[in-house]
Amino acid sequence: MTEFANRVEQVSISGIREVFEAASEDAINLGLGQPDFPTPAHARRGAIEAIESGHTDAYTSNKGTRSLREAISAKYDRDYSLEIDPEDVIATSGGSEALHLVLQAHVDPGEEVIFPDPGFVSYDALTNIADGTPKPVPLREDLTLDPATVEEAITDDTAVFVVNSPANPTGAVQSEEDMREFARIADEHDVLCLSDEVYEHIVFEGTHHSPMEFAETDNVVVVSACSKTYSMTGWRLGWVAASNRRIERMLRVHQYGQACASAPAQYAAQAALTGPQEPVEEMVETFERRRDLVVDGLEDAGLEVPTPEGAFYAMPKVPEGWCDEVLDRGVVVVPGDAFGEHGEGYARLSYATGTEDLKEALEIIDEATQAVQ
Ligand SMILES: Cc1ncc(COP(=O)(O)O)c(C=O)c1O
Repeated sequence: MTEFANRVEQVSISGIREVFEAASEDAINLGLGQPDFPTPAHARRGAIEAIESGHTDAYTSNKGTRSLREAISAKYDRDYSLEIDPEDVIATSGGSEALHLVLQAHVDPGEEVIFPDPGFVSYDALTNIADGTPKPVPLREDLTLDPATVEEAITDDTAVFVVNSPANPTGAVQSEEDMREFARIADEHDVLCLSDEVYEHIVFEGTHHSPMEFAETDNVVVVSACSKTYSMTGWRLGWVAASNRRIERMLRVHQYGQACASAPAQYAAQAALTGPQEPVEEMVETFERRRDLVVDGLEDAGLEVPTPEGAFYAMPKVPEGWCDEVLDRGVVVVPGDAFGEHGEGYARLSYATGTEDLKEALEIIDEATQAVQ
């Protein structure tokens, strides 16, 4: 009988889903990984107009429409003064597919992929799916990734190291100095740095920097998406930007696995990127106010929490039994160990939830914390 491939047997369905399944129907959900805002109207209109004018009935170019890739290229110039040729971009089905392309194109069987622990669940799974060897590394006390930890973890077998800032699940933002170091490490060790920047615009303190700004070689590839910035998770539109030789390799995977990203989503993304950015600013301001509310609430409950500087997550240290106690009282949070072994003793709270619900959840969290201490 045909057995299942090892690469899928090593992957399990995300621990996050288990928590959702255990929750009651009227629970307050602080487990969500997507903004609770509508997609901006001009982005929706971009898709509607393209559909109605018949522009979305056929495959687009494998890399995506030229006009979308020009919009992505203009975005990098506008945000970081980075020159990215529209030919060096592939539009993908969300940031998820972009991560998959990078690993498929660069990781040989058994080669190591270094990534943050706790970190986004896909890094481990996609490494296994690429037949690579996951090498999770712990974070600093403030939950940022120390470039020195990455440098020490590099061996002759390392193919890729992943940097994710702002980060899921921690909300941590890497400093410009760290990003310069990641670029140096990629250059000096001749190892690929995969920079996952899907939360790049959701930053409250300072500004986001990409290691690509500082690299002297083509050893940094950038993954981003419309998903979080424009509240477009359902549209499935992301991209990867890299040197031409890397894009040509990743295109081989994308061409046969996907053909092209969904055409209506490409038009929506183009409208999102080229249209007014006020909806993003308003969303980020709201997230910042909620971040303050959540951090204050957690500290008042007696929990220690590094102040998250971006994304929409907080990751407090929690006593044993805390997650179950909180869940039993009707608030969904995700146990930190769903994001890696070093996440144990932490929990991830998403504040992509309305303020009233957040206030109620924080009261429940306060009671639950007293109950387990
Ligand atoms: C760090 C990180 N990278 C990538 C993704 C994938 O995003 P997308 O919905 O664009 O596939 C997510 C989604 O939660 C994420 O948190």
